[in-house]
Amino acid sequence: MTTRYRVEYALKTHRRDQLIEWIKGLLAVPFVLHSQPTAVFEPRPETSDQMAIGAHRRYAEIMRDVEDLINDHIAHQNAGKQDRSKLKLLVPSVGTFFTPLLLHDAFVYQDARRFISYRRFVPPSFNDIRLILNTAQVMSLVRSGPLELVTFDGDVTLYDDGQSLLDDNPAIARILNLMRKGTRIGIVTAAGYTDARRYFERLHGLLDAIYTSDLSVGQQQNLIVMGGESSYLFRFDAESPDRLKLVPRKDWQLDEMLLWRDQDITELLNLAELALRDCVKQLHLPAEVIRKERAVGIIPSAGHRFAREQLEETVLVTQKILEMSPTSPRLPFCAFNGGNDVFVDIGDKSWGVIACQKFFGGIDGSKTLHIGDQFLSAGANDFKARLACTTAWIANPSETVALLDEMEELDRLARRKIV
Ligand code: IMP
Ligand code: MG
Repeated sequence: MTTRYRVEYALKTHRRDQLIEWIKGLLAVPFVLHSQPTAVFEPRPETSDQMAIGAHRRYAEIMRDVEDLINDHIAHQNAGKQDRSKLKLLVPSVGTFFTPLLLHDAFVYQDARRFISYRRFVPPSFNDIRLILNTAQVMSLVRSGPLELVTFDGDVTLYDDGQSLLDDNPAIARILNLMRKGTRIGIVTAAGYTDARRYFERLHGLLDAIYTSDLSVGQQQNLIVMGGESSYLFRFDAESPDRLKLVPRKDWQLDEMLLWRDQDITELLNLAELALRDCVKQLHLPAEVIRKERAVGIIPSAGHRFAREQLEETVLVTQKILEMSPTSPRLPFCAFNGGNDVFVDIGDKSWGVIACQKFFGGIDGSKTLHIGDQFLSAGANDFKARLACTTAWIANPSETVALLDEMEELDRLARRKIV
């Protein structure tokens, strides 16, 4: 029993998204009842088109029902009673919804591209539902007026893990398009450097494209970089050789951040370093420890890669130890698995996104979209952005580009309807 509990709880819950799993379970019922797997060897009178029409209708009805449950949850949220909604009973991990989700229309949109209703052997999957949720989110944002701020994670979202944003990155033209419409852009990354040069090295493709673009000076300055989750803010600056200028912390810091004491930061990082070093020893990891002003992490020694299990074990152990320390209630931190490294940062992306919103004059969470790849509840750093704004969960940089194209297409459709 203990073993089963540990397997279910310690190893699985942090690797599942409960809302997605729940929707997957709901869609599994019409799939089981209406898909026709035997038709491949035993032709039936019903054609695959008929089967797909039936399955589509039933899936779409369920998505409409879930959409209604989310609207009911939002009504409870607005009345300060979010803990009492039916959705909260069904999926206890759901948090704040900043906008309704147009799940029915998003399902219709994605089904026309992924042909989910035509499948006989593979039920609606985690990825199908993740992409439907992304579409539902951007549909809602686009239809309810201008999107004011888009924040992007860096690694895996804009470029491959550990790489840089180069001149030929297809996201660049899409980001410039958003900026032309007046949308503010934040790159909210865990990568924490104190000088602009390092960010220029990682992001020069985008920064150079903004520099040589037709954007006005004001529009160019609508790009900011928030590094180290919520620690270092840089603004685009055409005059600077690195195209970025550090904004002093006192000019953007949130009031609550003033309570983060240097002594607590040192203590928490010391403890994190001890925990990481202990994991390196216990698991015999070929690792180097990196200590920074506001972060500590382990990276693999030259020529090595960590196994997923090693990364997850290290994150979970370190996070548990930090959570139990007397400092943690006073100081937010983020322990995460970066794909081939583990870092503990002071602050997290909820603070990072909120600081960007404040920097641009107080943009609301319902007018902000954070796009990232790390949304599991433990060991992932984009997850915390859900506290600050609407989010989209992508799996690789191509999906980010596809999502930006989807937004552009929906925006065009929405404008055409208004005209
Ligand atoms: P993100 O996906 O843009 O949030 O970047 C995460 C990656 O940045 C990590 O996996 C690390 O490889 C890298 N990184 C560099 N410096 C830091 C740091 O100070 N804290 C956390 N991650 C860092
Ligand atoms: Mg990432």
